Amino acid sequence: KEAHAAEMERSFIAIKPDGVQRGLIAEIISRFERKGFKLVAIKIVIPSKDFAQKHYHDLKERPFFNGLCDFLSSGPVVAMVWEGEGVIKYGRKLIGATDPQKSEPGTIRGDLAVVVGRNIIHGSDGPETAKDEINLWFKPEELTSYSSNTEKWIY
Ligand code: PPS
Repeated sequence: KEAHAAEMERSFIAIKPDGVQRGLIAEIISRFERKGFKLVAIKIVIPSKDFAQKHYHDLKERPFFNGLCDFLSSGPVVAMVWEGEGVIKYGRKLIGATDPQKSEPGTIRGDLAVVVGRNIIHGSDGPETAKDEINLWFKPEELTSYSSNTEKWIY
């Protein structure tokens, strides 16, 4: 039985400034799209440092926190919400391990990135963070809810 769109799982996915600068927007969107996930919100923004600190608030105590926030706010970010069964966990699988030296070939970071400080993409790591991050980056009216022109979304 398929879940109705309204109760479908959603994840926050962001292409970081290095991914945008390197011309990887279409490549990254394409991987999520071809998998069968559904793009329900997208915009391009240059986050302020303050906003980046909010996004990464869980990492306040980490030594790389300041550098990571500077980096996220250094240029345009493609902020997206992707929807689909298991999109949070499987999205992380498509993205690959945090450190591109450890991510498998075939994953976004494994194929396209080299160092952890420039790992081109962010994805929510669980249902709670997904909710928080979607709420931080998007207003409710920016999120669409749609199905293909038949009743069910085709997987
Ligand atoms: S940890 O150690 O489990 O908290 O790390 P992780 O959850 O995998 O990563 C959290 C985010 O921090 C980024 N990160 C780093 N940035 C710069 N330098 C170093 N050393 C580093 N280690 C982790 C990592 O990319 C995660 O950010 P996002 O945007 O989610 O990728």
